Amino acid sequence: MKVAVLGAAGGIGQALSLLLKNGLPAGSELSLYDVAPVVPGVAVDLSHIPTAVKVAGFGADDLDAALAGADIVLIPAGMPRKPGMDRADLFNVNAGIIKTLAEGIVRSCPKALVGVITNPVNGTVPIVAEVFKKAGTYEASRVFGVTTLDVIRSEAFIAELKGVDVSEVKVPVIGGHSGTTILPLLSQVEGVSFTDEEVAALTPRIQNAGTEVVNAKAGGGSATLSMGAAAARFCFSLVKGLQGQDVVDYAYVAVENGDAPYFAHPVRLGKNGVEEILSYGELSAFEQKAKEDMLATLNKDIQEGVDFMS
Ligand code: NAD
Ligand code: LMR
Repeated sequence: MKVAVLGAAGGIGQALSLLLKNGLPAGSELSLYDVAPVVPGVAVDLSHIPTAVKVAGFGADDLDAALAGADIVLIPAGMPRKPGMDRADLFNVNAGIIKTLAEGIVRSCPKALVGVITNPVNGTVPIVAEVFKKAGTYEASRVFGVTTLDVIRSEAFIAELKGVDVSEVKVPVIGGHSGTTILPLLSQVEGVSFTDEEVAALTPRIQNAGTEVVNAKAGGGSATLSMGAAAARFCFSLVKGLQGQDVVDYAYVAVENGDAPYFAHPVRLGKNGVEEILSYGELSAFEQKAKEDMLATLNKDIQEGVDFMS
């Protein structure tokens, strides 16, 4: 298994790479790419951890070498938010970065499973898909927006609110990855129930959790450690799928005849990435309305990504 992390010297990149060095199957390779000159040092640092995962660092001019033969590519490259910014404000800077990196994937590992972390995820995932379409290498089943942070936050907040064992809490989160497009399905959480007031308070808390971190870091960036944990968890799901295990996880994927062209769903993972897009089931009246209300925003975010490549 070869996993490439693009943007590996950043806040997410370093946390994620540490978790992958400790958690990938023995014999795996971890390929770290960044334009920041510190990246070879990050690779040397990680290589001193005694696990059977080989680490190599690649600088600005070595994108193709970093990607050669990768099975999984995770992309946390690009600018994070500062207080007062929306994720959409990152589009102009991060769209070009994502396009360049996706072009590298076309050249070096067109069959890789690609997990996009760079914001705004609602629009960067369509950019990756459009680059692949232009090159004739697109397979919808291999491109993912990583929304796992919304899932793990929901688990943490609900366990805290209800005083239950966090390892038992499973929360479906559908839609996109910004503000109201993030839709936790609290009506489907097994073993706990919520009052209408709790739903009305917890839903926006989950939707605005990224902003909570951005404001708490006061100009020092956005979530990095929780995102590193989320991306590692999602990567391990992809690895299990590639190994032939039956695994279901949530991700922002291309959906035909769905709510929007891209929408976070539960997906069954396998050797080709998404084997099956699963239904997210029945929504409560609150969730149905929240879904209908956010679709215009989500579709606009998606179109911005598509238009960038046209
Ligand atoms: P950071 O500034 O700490 O790190 C970004 C890294 O990307 C830097 O090391 C930088 O050198 C590198 N980079 C920039 N241009 C590059 C290029 N062309 N090729 C390779 N590397 C490049 O930022 P961060 O906190 O790690 O956040 C990274 C991105 O992830 C941001 O866009 C942020 O909004 C996003 N994010 C997404 C989620 C999510 O849930 N999907 C969560 C948190 C953050
Ligand atoms: C998050 O949800 O923490 C990330 O998308 C980063 C951000 O800008 O909020």
